Formats: sequence, structure tokens, C-alpha cells
Amino acid sequence: MLTKAEALAHSVIYRKNSRFDKVKEKSEELTLIGKGRSAYVFALTEGDRKMALKVFFPEYQATAVKEAAIYEKLAGSAFYPDIYETGDSYILMEYIKGETFYNCLKKGIAISDDMIQQVEGALSDARAAGLNPSDIHLRNLILTETGAVRVIDVARFDQTKTCTQWDDLKAAYHALYKKPIFPKKIPGFWLEMIAFLYKKDWFQKHFAQRKRKYS
Ligand SMILES: Nc1ncnc2c1ncn2[C@@H]1O[C@H](COP(=O)(O)OP(=O)(O)O)[C@@H](O)[C@H]1O
Ligand SMILES: [Mg+2]
Repeated sequence: MLTKAEALAHSVIYRKNSRFDKVKEKSEELTLIGKGRSAYVFALTEGDRKMALKVFFPEYQATAVKEAAIYEKLAGSAFYPDIYETGDSYILMEYIKGETFYNCLKKGIAISDDMIQQVEGALSDARAAGLNPSDIHLRNLILTETGAVRVIDVARFDQTKTCTQWDDLKAAYHALYKKPIFPKKIPGFWLEMIAFLYKKDWFQKHFAQRKRKYS
């Protein structure tokens, strides 16, 4: 017999060739709450418990199984969501109410030293569990109403390659964000632009060139 989560996950049918709205069909019990590169995430309420169902796109089914195994290794750390059930194409987990760091920047919610420290704590828990925390970016970090920071999207924590994203973000936090003149509320357009240039290695090239010029 199918579990309820499994039936709900299977109720989601994705469109193949759409970048922005991939949901073709889904159960009415599911409300879309987040879009990622490998999956969309839906809220689902049972009694008074609200949960998050991450339903992977067909081409990312292998990631569902891989991410579930990684979450299992992180079960001892409070920085990561509790996992209730996993399956071939889905993960049913604790719903984390809050704002991603990305939305914090967009809405002007202050990012603090304490939040940075909490991310460090989460990454150190992952390392202690034998993992290599990777793909740490603004949309995978959530600030809750009580000021706690939670980390989601751990599928790449088993890679061996070094990922510098978090170190780069931290450097930007200290060198730019903390400067009084730096704007604390940044329009989405600029955040997208910065993310795009970062992906294209623009900052590294630009600053490497400048360094060369002065050396
Ligand atoms: N447990 C959760 N609670 C609340 N929101 C979540 C949860 N998991 C994911 N989300 C939302 O869904 C988005 C996409 O999920 P994510 O796991 O990052 O997918 P992907 O692996 O495809 O990047 C996140 O950026 C976040 O906004
Ligand atoms: Mg993500």
C-alpha cells in the first residue's frame, strides 16, 4: 500500500519544458512553497502539524535517494530539518517557518554575526558526521522567527570537491555587508545579477586581474 506522502508525491506531475512553472498537476492538499533546481517543495498539513514535501523532478530521482541518506547522517544535529519519511522521488520533512537569507536581504531583515556563527555550527556538525558541506548559498539557509538558523538542501554534502561558496559569502558579509554604507535591503534584480556573475566566476577573474595589476 502507498503511504499518504507517497501518494501525494506521485500526485505531482511536472511539465518537461517549463523553467518557471513546472507543476502540471498536483493534489489539492499540497501548496507550493519553494522552487529549487532539482525539486519543488510543497507544504502539507496533517492535524496541527505542518510538513514540507520535497518532490524531485523525474530526472533528479537519484538525488532523492542520495539526499535522504545524507539527512540520515545529520539526524543528530538541530540545525537540519527532521525527516519523517523518504521514498523513490520524495522527502517528507519538518516544515521550517521563516525566511531564507535571500529573502532577508530582499526584505531588509538584518543578517547578524550570530546567524553566521550558527551556519558555522551547522557546517561543523556536518563535518563531524563525515560529510563535506557544499552548495551553501542564500536560498538554502533559513532564519526562523525565534532567530534560529536552519540549513536545508544537503544533496551535495557527500561530494569530495571543495566548495568555496560559504567562505565567499562569509568574506562578502565581513568585507561589504558589515560596512555601514552597504545597503541592508537589496532589490531582487541585484541579488540575481550578483548570483549570475558569481556563477560565471566574474568576481574571481576581476579581482585576480586587479591583484595582478598591482603586484
Ligand atoms: N523544510 C522546508 N521548510 C520550508 N521551506 C523549505 C523546506 N525545504 C525547502 N524549502 C523551500 O523550497 C526551496 C527549494 O528547496 P531545496 O531543498 O533547496 O531544493 P533544491 O535541492 O532543488 O535546490 C528552498 O529554497 C526553500 O525556500
Ligand atoms: Mg536549494
